[in-house]
Amino acid sequence: MSERERVRELVRGARRIVVFSGAGMSAESGVPTFRDAQTGLWAKFRPEELATEPAFRANPSMVWDWYVSRREAVARVAPNAGHLAIADFQRRHPGRLTVATQNVDGLHQRAGSPGVLALHGNLADDKWLDVPCERCDLAVEAGRPPRCAHCGNLLRPAVVWFGEALPARVLAEAESAARACDLMLVVGTSGAVYPAAGLARMARGQVVVVNPQASDLDDAADVVLRDTAARSLPYLLED
Ligand code: APR
Repeated sequence: MSERERVRELVRGARRIVVFSGAGMSAESGVPTFRDAQTGLWAKFRPEELATEPAFRANPSMVWDWYVSRREAVARVAPNAGHLAIADFQRRHPGRLTVATQNVDGLHQRAGSPGVLALHGNLADDKWLDVPCERCDLAVEAGRPPRCAHCGNLLRPAVVWFGEALPARVLAEAESAARACDLMLVVGTSGAVYPAAGLARMARGQVVVVNPQASDLDDAADVVLRDTAARSLPYLLED
């Protein structure tokens, strides 16, 4: 039996499955991963230098423009066969598979996956940088970034920046799903960023890493599939 066949059997026998995904899940949709080189105006910056509150406060328009360019890039792509295979499985087996993702691109949601645990927030959403005044939500003034015309508060992307806490309820739900699962598929993550990466180390069940390259979570895996998300998931998740 090949490793792929072995993993497909693990899926068939698992009652509770968690798919824990990272940027590699969206690579075959054409979304660059974090470890890919940055392009264009931001080629000289690393994401860690842009995706922080101090960076945003220091240069709001540059960081805002970076997010706008990422939103436009994501709007031009579509979920790939991996996202769709997960959503199809969830449709055929309601309640059996939970998606916990580090991705902010919304592609799991666009593929039709329900109840996605977005550990690092969503690129498409904004929130106020500082505590909003009583008129913020009514006095939004267009700009790069938009601001409150009354108190000057800035809108910022509703994503988790480096150094920020993950949404507590989402993280708690993901940890509880990990601790209850029979099987965790860790797809397309370098495993470099905690606390998210810690999910792979608290899985109750067997852990399968799906990644064409070596990752920091390979040592936590019972099986490592050197394969890509779009090539492997349709096979692994078929009935
Ligand atoms: N299929 C599966 N995995 C892939 C594919 C693919 N087609 N292409 C690349 N990969 C793998 C890479 O080998 C790499 O291990 O996806 C991983 C992407 O790693 P990162 O770019 O580090 O992305 P991620 O692990 O999601 O980063 C975690 O760090 O930058 C922060 O908050 C950001 O959520 C992000 C977090």
